[in-house]
Amino acid sequence: MTKEQVLRTLQAHPDAFVSGEALSRELSVSRTAVWKAVDQLRQEGYPIESVPRRGHRLASGSDVLSAEGIRRYLAHDALEVRFFPTISSTNTVLRQMALENAPAGLALVAGEQTAGRGRLGRSFFSPARSGLYLSLLLRPDTPAAESTLLTSCAAVAVAEAIESLAHVQPRIKWVNDLLLNGKKICGILTEAGLDCETGRMSYVVIGIGINTRPPEGDFPEALSPIAGSAFGDLPIPDLRNRLAAQVLDRLLDYAANPGSDRLFEKYRDRLMVLGKPILILSPGRDPVPALALDLERDYGLRVRDEKGVEQVLHSGEISIRVQDA
Ligand code: BTN
Repeated sequence: MTKEQVLRTLQAHPDAFVSGEALSRELSVSRTAVWKAVDQLRQEGYPIESVPRRGHRLASGSDVLSAEGIRRYLAHDALEVRFFPTISSTNTVLRQMALENAPAGLALVAGEQTAGRGRLGRSFFSPARSGLYLSLLLRPDTPAAESTLLTSCAAVAVAEAIESLAHVQPRIKWVNDLLLNGKKICGILTEAGLDCETGRMSYVVIGIGINTRPPEGDFPEALSPIAGSAFGDLPIPDLRNRLAAQVLDRLLDYAANPGSDRLFEKYRDRLMVLGKPILILSPGRDPVPALALDLERDYGLRVRDEKGVEQVLHSGEISIRVQDA
Protein backbone atom coordinates (compact mmCIF):
# COMPACT_ATOMS: atom_id res chain seq x y z
CA MET A 1 0.00 0.00 0.00
CA THR A 2 1.56 3.26 -1.14
CA LYS A 3 0.31 5.27 1.85
CA GLU A 4 1.92 2.85 4.30
CA GLN A 5 5.17 2.82 2.35
CA VAL A 6 5.31 6.60 2.12
CA LEU A 7 4.68 6.87 5.85
CA ARG A 8 7.37 4.32 6.65
CA THR A 9 9.90 6.12 4.46
CA LEU A 10 9.13 9.52 5.99
CA GLN A 11 9.31 8.01 9.46
CA ALA A 12 12.74 6.64 8.62
CA HIS A 13 13.89 10.24 7.97
CA PRO A 14 12.24 12.25 10.76
CA ASP A 15 12.38 16.04 10.33
CA ALA A 16 14.18 15.69 6.96
CA PHE A 17 12.76 16.45 3.53
CA VAL A 18 12.41 13.48 1.19
CA SER A 19 11.76 14.53 -2.39
CA GLY A 20 8.70 13.32 -4.27
CA GLU A 21 11.02 12.03 -6.94
CA ALA A 22 13.03 9.97 -4.44
CA LEU A 23 9.84 8.57 -2.94
CA SER A 24 8.36 7.61 -6.30
CA ARG A 25 11.66 5.99 -7.37
CA GLU A 26 12.16 4.12 -4.09
CA LEU A 27 8.58 2.84 -3.95
CA SER A 28 8.20 2.32 -7.72
CA VAL A 29 5.01 4.37 -7.92
CA SER A 30 4.07 7.54 -9.81
CA ARG A 31 4.63 11.04 -8.39
CA THR A 32 0.82 11.45 -8.40
CA ALA A 33 0.46 8.35 -6.24
CA VAL A 34 2.99 9.82 -3.81
CA TRP A 35 1.04 13.09 -3.65
CA LYS A 36 -2.21 11.24 -3.03
CA ALA A 37 -0.63 9.20 -0.25
CA VAL A 38 0.83 12.29 1.40
CA ASP A 39 -2.53 13.99 1.18
CA GLN A 40 -4.33 11.05 2.79
CA LEU A 41 -1.76 10.88 5.57
CA ARG A 42 -2.17 14.59 6.24
CA GLN A 43 -5.94 14.12 6.44
CA GLU A 44 -5.38 11.39 9.01
CA GLY A 45 -3.53 13.94 11.12
CA TYR A 46 0.13 13.28 10.28
CA PRO A 47 2.02 16.60 10.44
CA ILE A 48 3.64 16.40 6.99
CA GLU A 49 5.08 19.57 5.50
CA SER A 50 5.35 19.67 1.69
CA VAL A 51 7.59 22.28 0.06
CA PRO A 52 8.04 22.62 -3.73
CA ARG A 53 11.48 21.45 -4.95
CA ARG A 54 12.35 20.08 -1.47
CA GLY A 55 9.75 17.39 -0.90
CA HIS A 56 7.88 16.14 2.16
CA ARG A 57 8.90 15.90 5.77
CA LEU A 58 7.28 14.38 8.82
CA ALA A 59 7.82 16.05 12.20
CA SER A 60 9.71 13.70 14.53
CA GLY A 61 7.18 14.26 17.32
CA SER A 62 4.33 12.88 15.19
CA ASP A 63 2.05 10.72 17.32
CA VAL A 64 -1.07 9.85 15.34
CA LEU A 65 -2.94 6.92 16.82
CA SER A 66 -4.75 4.59 14.40
CA ALA A 67 -5.64 0.92 13.95
CA GLU A 68 -3.35 0.74 10.91
CA GLY A 69 -0.57 2.44 12.83
CA ILE A 70 -0.84 -0.08 15.67
CA ARG A 71 -1.02 -3.04 13.31
CA ARG A 72 2.27 -1.95 11.78
CA TYR A 73 4.05 -2.90 15.01
CA LEU A 74 1.86 -5.77 16.18
CA ALA A 75 3.28 -9.31 16.29
CA HIS A 76 0.06 -11.20 17.14
CA ASP A 77 -2.04 -11.80 14.02
CA ALA A 78 -5.02 -13.00 16.05
CA LEU A 79 -5.69 -9.54 17.46
CA GLU A 80 -8.34 -7.35 15.88
CA VAL A 81 -7.78 -3.67 16.64
CA ARG A 82 -10.55 -1.09 16.25
CA PHE A 83 -9.73 2.57 16.73
CA PHE A 84 -12.06 5.34 17.95
CA PRO A 85 -10.82 8.95 17.97
CA THR A 86 -13.38 9.56 20.75
CA ILE A 87 -15.44 7.06 22.72
CA SER A 88 -17.39 7.06 25.98
CA SER A 89 -15.29 4.30 27.54
CA THR A 90 -13.48 1.48 25.77
CA ASN A 91 -14.43 -0.85 28.65
CA THR A 92 -18.13 0.05 28.55
CA VAL A 93 -18.36 -0.36 24.78
CA LEU A 94 -16.32 -3.56 24.68
CA ARG A 95 -18.38 -5.15 27.46
CA GLN A 96 -21.49 -4.48 25.40
CA MET A 97 -19.79 -6.05 22.37
CA ALA A 98 -18.80 -9.04 24.51
CA LEU A 99 -22.45 -9.59 25.40
CA GLU A 100 -23.21 -9.48 21.68
CA ASN A 101 -20.73 -12.31 21.06
CA ALA A 102 -17.68 -10.37 19.92
CA PRO A 103 -14.69 -12.71 19.65
CA ALA A 104 -11.73 -12.99 22.01
CA GLY A 105 -8.79 -10.94 20.79
CA LEU A 106 -10.83 -7.86 19.92
CA ALA A 107 -9.16 -4.68 21.16
CA LEU A 108 -10.70 -1.22 21.23
CA VAL A 109 -8.26 1.67 21.25
CA ALA A 110 -9.28 5.29 21.75
CA GLY A 111 -7.61 8.66 21.49
CA GLU A 112 -9.97 10.17 24.04
CA GLN A 113 -12.69 8.97 26.44
CA THR A 114 -15.61 11.13 27.50
CA ALA A 115 -16.68 8.79 30.32
CA GLY A 116 -13.50 6.90 31.21
CA ARG A 117 -14.00 4.67 34.25
CA GLY A 118 -11.61 3.69 37.01
CA ARG A 119 -11.75 1.17 39.85
CA LEU A 120 -14.20 1.50 42.70
CA GLY A 121 -16.63 3.59 40.64
CA ARG A 122 -14.16 6.41 40.07
CA SER A 123 -13.78 8.24 36.78
CA PHE A 124 -10.58 8.11 34.74
CA PHE A 125 -9.27 11.35 33.24
CA SER A 126 -8.87 10.55 29.53
CA PRO A 127 -8.05 13.66 27.49
CA ALA A 128 -7.13 13.68 23.78
CA ARG A 129 -3.55 13.53 22.48
CA SER A 130 -1.84 12.85 25.80
CA GLY A 131 -2.99 9.34 26.64
CA LEU A 132 -3.61 5.84 25.37
CA TYR A 133 -6.89 4.18 26.34
CA LEU A 134 -7.48 0.59 25.32
CA SER A 135 -9.44 -2.51 26.25
CA LEU A 136 -8.86 -6.11 25.27
CA LEU A 137 -11.53 -8.81 25.23
CA LEU A 138 -10.57 -12.31 26.32
CA ARG A 139 -12.65 -15.42 26.92
CA PRO A 140 -10.42 -17.48 29.16
CA ASP A 141 -12.97 -20.05 30.44
CA THR A 142 -11.37 -20.06 33.89
CA PRO A 143 -12.80 -19.42 37.39
CA ALA A 144 -13.74 -15.80 38.09
CA ALA A 145 -11.01 -15.42 40.72
CA GLU A 146 -8.44 -15.61 37.94
CA SER A 147 -9.45 -12.24 36.56
CA THR A 148 -7.07 -10.73 39.15
CA LEU A 149 -4.21 -12.58 37.49
CA LEU A 150 -5.08 -10.95 34.19
CA THR A 151 -4.82 -7.54 35.83
CA SER A 152 -1.32 -8.52 36.96
CA CYS A 153 -0.51 -9.61 33.39
CA ALA A 154 -1.57 -6.16 32.22
CA ALA A 155 0.48 -4.34 34.87
CA VAL A 156 3.65 -6.19 33.90
CA ALA A 157 2.92 -5.87 30.16
CA VAL A 158 2.50 -2.09 30.40
CA ALA A 159 5.53 -1.61 32.66
CA GLU A 160 7.72 -3.57 30.24
CA ALA A 161 6.34 -1.78 27.19
CA ILE A 162 7.09 1.61 28.73
CA GLU A 163 10.51 0.47 29.84
CA SER A 164 11.43 -0.78 26.39
CA LEU A 165 10.42 2.51 24.75
CA ALA A 166 11.63 5.03 27.32
CA HIS A 167 14.29 3.16 29.34
CA VAL A 168 12.62 4.06 32.62
CA GLN A 169 11.36 1.60 35.22
CA PRO A 170 7.73 2.05 36.22
CA ARG A 171 6.86 0.46 39.56
CA ILE A 172 3.63 -1.30 40.48
CA LYS A 173 1.55 0.02 43.34
CA TRP A 174 -0.52 -2.93 44.49
CA VAL A 175 -2.84 -3.85 43.04
CA ASN A 176 -2.88 -2.36 39.59
CA ASP A 177 -1.50 1.18 39.34
CA LEU A 178 1.79 1.96 37.65
CA LEU A 179 3.88 4.74 39.09
CA LEU A 180 6.88 6.62 37.81
CA ASN A 181 8.75 9.02 40.06
CA GLY A 182 6.02 8.53 42.66
CA LYS A 183 3.20 9.58 40.31
CA LYS A 184 0.49 7.43 38.73
CA ILE A 185 1.01 6.98 35.00
CA CYS A 186 -1.33 4.05 34.33
CA GLY A 187 -4.49 2.51 35.72
CA ILE A 188 -6.04 -0.85 34.90
CA LEU A 189 -9.68 -1.87 35.19
CA THR A 190 -10.51 -5.53 34.62
CA GLU A 191 -14.17 -6.45 34.36
CA ALA A 192 -15.54 -9.95 33.89
CA GLY A 193 -18.85 -11.50 32.91
CA LEU A 194 -19.72 -14.66 34.80
CA ASP A 195 -21.40 -17.80 33.58
CA CYS A 196 -23.49 -18.50 36.67
CA GLU A 197 -23.92 -22.20 35.91
CA THR A 198 -20.24 -23.00 35.67
CA GLY A 199 -18.81 -20.21 37.86
CA ARG A 200 -16.39 -19.53 35.03
CA MET A 201 -15.81 -16.31 33.18
CA SER A 202 -17.74 -15.89 29.95
CA TYR A 203 -15.64 -12.85 29.08
CA VAL A 204 -13.01 -10.57 30.55
CA VAL A 205 -12.40 -6.99 29.47
CA ILE A 206 -9.00 -5.67 30.49
CA GLY A 207 -8.98 -1.87 30.30
CA ILE A 208 -5.75 0.08 30.39
CA GLY A 209 -5.28 3.84 30.57
CA ILE A 210 -1.79 5.28 30.19
CA ASN A 211 -0.89 8.96 30.57
CA THR A 212 1.70 9.17 27.83
CA ARG A 213 2.44 12.92 27.78
CA PRO A 214 1.67 15.83 30.09
CA PRO A 215 -1.87 16.89 29.08
CA GLU A 216 -2.45 20.22 27.37
CA GLY A 217 -3.11 22.67 30.20
CA ASP A 218 -1.83 20.07 32.70
CA PHE A 219 -3.80 17.64 34.90
CA PRO A 220 -6.86 18.93 36.77
CA GLU A 221 -5.98 20.40 40.15
CA ALA A 222 -7.11 17.36 42.12
CA LEU A 223 -4.94 15.04 40.02
CA SER A 224 -1.79 17.07 39.55
CA PRO A 225 -0.17 16.07 42.90
CA ILE A 226 -0.66 12.37 42.13
CA ALA A 227 -0.72 11.94 38.33
CA GLY A 228 2.25 11.99 35.99
CA SER A 229 3.10 11.03 32.45
CA ALA A 230 5.09 8.01 31.34
CA PHE A 231 7.12 9.70 28.62
CA GLY A 232 7.18 13.41 29.54
CA ASP A 233 8.69 15.23 26.55
CA LEU A 234 10.92 12.36 25.39
CA PRO A 235 11.04 12.44 21.58
CA ILE A 236 9.69 9.03 20.49
CA PRO A 237 8.16 9.01 17.00
CA ASP A 238 4.82 7.26 16.61
CA LEU A 239 4.78 6.71 20.35
CA ARG A 240 1.20 5.66 21.04
CA ASN A 241 0.94 3.22 18.11
CA ARG A 242 4.15 1.52 19.20
CA LEU A 243 3.10 1.54 22.83
CA ALA A 244 -0.34 0.08 22.06
CA ALA A 245 1.19 -2.71 19.97
CA GLN A 246 3.76 -3.57 22.63
CA VAL A 247 1.18 -3.57 25.41
CA LEU A 248 -1.23 -5.80 23.46
CA ASP A 249 1.46 -8.23 22.31
CA ARG A 250 2.94 -8.61 25.78
CA LEU A 251 -0.47 -8.85 27.42
CA LEU A 252 -1.54 -11.67 25.10
CA ASP A 253 1.71 -13.52 25.80
CA TYR A 254 1.30 -13.28 29.57
CA ALA A 255 -2.43 -13.99 29.46
CA ALA A 256 -1.70 -17.34 27.79
CA ASN A 257 -0.28 -18.48 31.14
CA PRO A 258 -1.36 -16.00 33.83
CA GLY A 259 -0.52 -18.29 36.73
CA SER A 260 3.13 -18.60 35.73
CA ASP A 261 6.00 -18.20 38.20
CA ARG A 262 7.74 -15.99 35.65
CA LEU A 263 4.91 -13.45 35.71
CA PHE A 264 4.69 -13.59 39.51
CA GLU A 265 8.42 -12.83 39.87
CA LYS A 266 8.23 -9.98 37.40
CA TYR A 267 5.23 -8.47 39.17
CA ARG A 268 6.82 -8.84 42.60
CA ASP A 269 10.12 -7.32 41.43
CA ARG A 270 8.30 -4.20 40.32
CA LEU A 271 6.14 -3.90 43.40
CA MET A 272 6.95 -0.72 45.28
CA VAL A 273 5.05 -1.33 48.50
CA LEU A 274 6.93 -4.17 50.15
CA GLY A 275 8.45 -3.19 53.49
CA LYS A 276 6.66 0.17 53.44
CA PRO A 277 4.05 1.69 55.74
CA ILE A 278 0.66 1.89 54.03
CA LEU A 279 -2.90 2.94 54.76
CA ILE A 280 -5.61 0.39 54.00
CA LEU A 281 -8.60 2.16 52.50
CA SER A 282 -11.99 0.46 52.41
CA PRO A 283 -15.31 2.20 51.72
CA GLY A 284 -17.12 3.47 54.83
CA ARG A 285 -14.20 2.73 57.16
CA ASP A 286 -11.36 4.80 58.60
CA PRO A 287 -7.98 4.27 56.94
CA VAL A 288 -6.00 1.57 58.77
CA PRO A 289 -2.23 2.02 59.10
CA ALA A 290 -0.24 -1.15 58.38
CA LEU A 291 3.07 -2.42 57.08
CA ALA A 292 3.17 -4.19 53.67
CA LEU A 293 5.05 -7.43 54.30
CA ASP A 294 4.98 -9.59 51.20
CA LEU A 295 3.08 -10.70 48.13
CA GLU A 296 1.27 -14.01 48.40
CA ARG A 297 1.37 -16.38 45.47
CA ASP A 298 -2.27 -15.48 44.64
CA TYR A 299 -1.21 -11.80 44.41
CA GLY A 300 -2.81 -10.97 47.77
CA LEU A 301 -0.84 -8.44 49.83
CA ARG A 302 0.23 -9.66 53.28
CA VAL A 303 0.14 -6.78 55.76
CA ARG A 304 0.63 -6.31 59.52
CA ASP A 305 -1.42 -3.71 61.39
CA GLU A 306 -0.23 -1.70 64.40
CA LYS A 307 -1.50 -4.34 66.82
CA GLY A 308 0.69 -6.91 65.13
CA VAL A 309 -2.23 -8.66 63.44
CA GLU A 310 -1.43 -9.99 59.99
CA GLN A 311 -3.94 -10.35 57.17
CA VAL A 312 -3.87 -10.81 53.41
CA LEU A 313 -5.58 -8.14 51.33
CA HIS A 314 -7.30 -8.99 48.08
CA SER A 315 -8.15 -6.26 45.62
CA GLY A 316 -11.99 -6.14 45.60
CA GLU A 317 -13.11 -3.04 47.44
CA ILE A 318 -9.75 -2.33 49.02
CA SER A 319 -7.07 0.09 47.94
CA ILE A 320 -3.94 1.29 49.68
CA ARG A 321 -1.99 4.50 50.01
CA VAL A 322 1.75 4.20 50.34
CA GLN A 323 2.97 6.48 53.14
CA ASP A 324 6.46 7.29 51.83
CA ALA A 325 6.15 6.71 48.08
C1 BTN B 1 -7.99 3.00 37.74
O1 BTN B 1 -6.95 3.65 37.78
O2 BTN B 1 -8.79 3.03 38.70
C2 BTN B 1 -8.29 2.21 36.52
C3 BTN B 1 -8.35 3.06 35.30
C4 BTN B 1 -8.64 2.29 34.04
C5 BTN B 1 -8.78 3.22 32.85
C6 BTN B 1 -8.92 2.47 31.56
S1 BTN B 1 -8.80 3.54 30.18
C7 BTN B 1 -9.36 2.29 29.12
C8 BTN B 1 -10.47 1.57 29.85
N1 BTN B 1 -11.73 2.25 29.67
C9 BTN B 1 -12.20 2.76 30.80
O3 BTN B 1 -13.25 3.40 30.91
N2 BTN B 1 -11.37 2.48 31.80
C10 BTN B 1 -10.23 1.72 31.36
